[in-house]
Amino acid sequence: MWSDVSETEVTTAPRPLLLADGRPAARAWSLDPVMKHLNHGSFGAVPLVAQERQNELRAEMDSSPVVWFPALPQKIADARVDLAAFLRATPDDLALVPNASAGISVVLNALPRRRGGAIVVTDHGYGAVTMGAERLARRWGGEVRTARVPLDADEEQAYEAVMAGTDDATDLIVVDQITSATARRMPVERIGAGAARLGVPLLVDGAHAPGLIEAPLDGLTCDFWVGNLHKWGCAPRGTAALVARGAQREDLYPLIDSWGAPDPYPDRFDQQGTVDVTGYLAASTALDFVDRTWGWDTARRYMDDLAGYAERLVGAAFAELGAVPGIVDVGMPVPGMRLVRLPEGLAGSRIEADALRDRAARELGVEAAFTSFDGIGYMRLSAHVYNTAVDYEYFAEDCVPVIGEWAHAAH
Ligand SMILES: Cc1ncc(COP(=O)(O)O)c(C=O)c1O
Repeated sequence: MWSDVSETEVTTAPRPLLLADGRPAARAWSLDPVMKHLNHGSFGAVPLVAQERQNELRAEMDSSPVVWFPALPQKIADARVDLAAFLRATPDDLALVPNASAGISVVLNALPRRRGGAIVVTDHGYGAVTMGAERLARRWGGEVRTARVPLDADEEQAYEAVMAGTDDATDLIVVDQITSATARRMPVERIGAGAARLGVPLLVDGAHAPGLIEAPLDGLTCDFWVGNLHKWGCAPRGTAALVARGAQREDLYPLIDSWGAPDPYPDRFDQQGTVDVTGYLAASTALDFVDRTWGWDTARRYMDDLAGYAERLVGAAFAELGAVPGIVDVGMPVPGMRLVRLPEGLAGSRIEADALRDRAARELGVEAAFTSFDGIGYMRLSAHVYNTAVDYEYFAEDCVPVIGEWAHAAH
C-alpha cells in the first residue's frame, strides 16, 4: 500500500546516506563522478555488488555452458520466489520478463477481442505502450479511447475520467500506477475495482513501482501488472516482473516461444532458449544490498525527502527566471519523484524534451529527465540513495541559469 512519505514536509536537506564503512553511498555505484546523475527513474543504476554478482554468474555460464543452460529453469524459478517476496506477490503469479515493455507486449499479444475492441488508455500513458495498444485496437477493428486526466486531477477525477470511457465495447483498460512524463499516481486500486465490476480486464503499468512502493500489488485488483526491477530496485537491466492472476493468464506466452510452452503459467516463462538471464539471477543481490545497508523504508524516506528538497530548490530557481510557477501540483504525487515546470520555450514536445536531455548531458554534464505534457515542458526530478542535496544545489545554482538562456534563445 502507499505510505504517506510524499506528504512529509521537508524544509532542510536530508543528511546524506552513508555506507557501513562511512563512505558516501555513491561509492557503491560505478556512476561517473564527473557527471551529475539526476535521473534515476529512466534507466536505474546498478550497484557494484550486483554488477559483480552478475559477472560471477556470467563466468560460471561461460565456463560450463552445457551444465549452465539445462539447470537454468530451476534457477529462474528460485529467483522468482525471491523477487516475489520483495514485491509481496505470490511466486506462482509472477513471471520474469526482460522489461516492462516485454511484459505488456505479452499481454497485448494474448488478449482476444470479446466485445467491441475498445481499449481505454490515459493521456499520461507511456508512449510506447500506447502505440502497442493502438496497434492491437487496429488489429481488432476497434479503437483506443484516451481518457484525459488533468495534471492536477485528484483520485476521484482521475477515476471518473478512466471509467467514463469504459463501457460494453471495452476489452481492455491500460493505466499506469506511476506515470512517466508526469510523475504522478493514478488511482489503480479504484479503477481495478470498477473494471472488475464491469468484467473488463485491467493491465496496470507499474514500471516505476518496484522499490518506490513497498507492496505495489496490495489492495490492487487487476488481471495483469508489470513492474521493472531495474529502475528503483537497482537490479541489472533486463529484469522485470509480470504478475497475472485471472484465468486468462493461461493464454500468456513469453515473447520467445520455447520448450516451456506446454508448461503452465508462469513456469513456461522460465525457458527462453539460449539467452543471458544473469540479470534475473543477480537482481536480488541489488535488492538485498539496499535492504542490508539502510533498509528499504529508510531508503524510500530518504529518496522522498531529497526529492522534496530538490523540488523546492530547483522549482524556485526556475520560477525566478520568469513568470512560470516552478512547483507543480500533480494531484496524486509519488514518493521519490517530483515535477517542476520549465520556462516557456523548452520541451514543448517529447522530441524537444529529449533534445534538451541530450544537450544538458553534453553541455552541462548533467543526466536529467525532461518531459512534455499538454505542450508544456517539465523537469522530472528523481532521487535515489546515492544522490545528495549537493547534486540539486549545483543544478539550481549553476545549470538553471544556463537553461534559462537556452529558453530565452528558443522563445
Ligand atoms: C510507465 C512506463 N511504462 C513502461 C516503461 C518501459 O520500461 P522498459 O523500457 O524497461 O521496458 C517505462 C520506462 O520508463 C515507464 O515509465
